[in-house]
Amino acid sequence: MKITPISEGITQLSVNVENILFEGLWDIPKGVSINSYVVKGDKIALVDGVCGWDGVPESLFALLDQLKIDLKSIQYLVLNHLEPDHAGWIEDLRKVHDDFEVICTDKGADLFEAFFGSGVRVRVVKDGDNLDLGAGKMLEFHTIPHVHWPDAMVTFEKYSRVAFTCDAFGSFGKLERSSFDDDYTDEELKAYEHETIRYYSNIVGAFSPFVLKAIDKLAPLHIDIIAPGHGLVWRSRVNKIIEDYRQYALYQKGQARGEITLLWGSMYGMTEMGVRVAIEELEKSGLTYHVHEVPETSWGDILTSVWTSDALILAMPTYEYKMFPPMAAALDEIGKKKAVGRKIFRFGSYGWSGGAQKELDEIHDKLRLNWSFIDPVEFKGKPALEDLEKVRSGVQNLIGLVKDSR
Ligand SMILES: Cc1cc2nc3c(=O)[nH]c(=O)nc-3n(C[C@H](O)[C@H](O)[C@H](O)COP(=O)(O)O)c2cc1C
Ligand SMILES: [Fe+2]
Ligand SMILES: [Fe+2]
Repeated sequence: MKITPISEGITQLSVNVENILFEGLWDIPKGVSINSYVVKGDKIALVDGVCGWDGVPESLFALLDQLKIDLKSIQYLVLNHLEPDHAGWIEDLRKVHDDFEVICTDKGADLFEAFFGSGVRVRVVKDGDNLDLGAGKMLEFHTIPHVHWPDAMVTFEKYSRVAFTCDAFGSFGKLERSSFDDDYTDEELKAYEHETIRYYSNIVGAFSPFVLKAIDKLAPLHIDIIAPGHGLVWRSRVNKIIEDYRQYALYQKGQARGEITLLWGSMYGMTEMGVRVAIEELEKSGLTYHVHEVPETSWGDILTSVWTSDALILAMPTYEYKMFPPMAAALDEIGKKKAVGRKIFRFGSYGWSGGAQKELDEIHDKLRLNWSFIDPVEFKGKPALEDLEKVRSGVQNLIGLVKDSR
């Protein structure tokens, strides 16, 4: 855990978490930081907490001690979002100090009771409400429902113009050298962006229409610093992270970065023979492409690639009258994130009946994906040379469609 001064009277407490599945589901190869903030006026508010993973409450308390903040002097606990990654250690805080007031939205209050019961004072705030901490610290609250849960809000400190945005504008990736964007070069941030897109597509992406609404709603605030609950604090590139988030939200509809993702699975190598041809064509295309085998690749990696892709190549055999199961699972997850509007080319091998295409159609219809398909290519057993040529022209067609739509 570490302490970083953000602005006069505002301090970040941050912990890096690794070797967990985030939300019990998403792999985070580069870890994630969970950021909490202390705002010190005459009164002290803690904005968001960090989750109660092993050792976290103790280290948080130690940091507060280092800041010479008596736990008992914390009057307000501002909970922008009740998901336990930001609220999980409240139980520990309550053991040492329960004379504080929780500040959250009405939806947050409902969730607070569900997770933590009663016995703590909860003050519900609405859009534009203020909380004066004295000594030039004034918090103002702005709800941003469904970024990521219905309870979400942004807390804005009006004099320093710092916005505490919790999940909004967050990223995966540990905070190592510095918590600030301006301590990294454009090159370094380009590499880091992969972690932002991973976070966005895995955690927030399904709520993209709400992200767009939130961005518009926050526009009049003239934010100088974005201090999120995960990842870098944005100080010199505030507009960049806002505009990046706007773009990520728009990618949901299918017009993304003109990339192509090839997802494939194969039991005995028959479908894989077509995959090799597809990769040859992708390589020639000059487009950015991603190749992921299922089930070897995690959903998190797959979604990160799909999010920035306009088109998908889906290569899988038939299995028990359906699609190769790990592909169906991956597509279901992509569909639940509502990555709609993609251009699709499917091919694969079958033995006697086929069935993969039927399940693809079912998933497509069930999740209302509005994908546009070019004619699939199916072959019985091992692909003949002419089957492989059909795969080649299918991939060429898809590449042509992507290029034409740019
Ligand atoms: C467990 C299992 C179940 C299968 N179920 C079907 C099926 O229901 N219908 C069908 O047409 N082929 C079925 N097949 C045949 C495969 O689709 C066929 O062997 C295909 O060539 C496999 O392609 P791959 O080598 O790319 O995995 C099945 C194969 C296996 C191993
Ligand atoms: Fe969240
Ligand atoms: Fe979070």
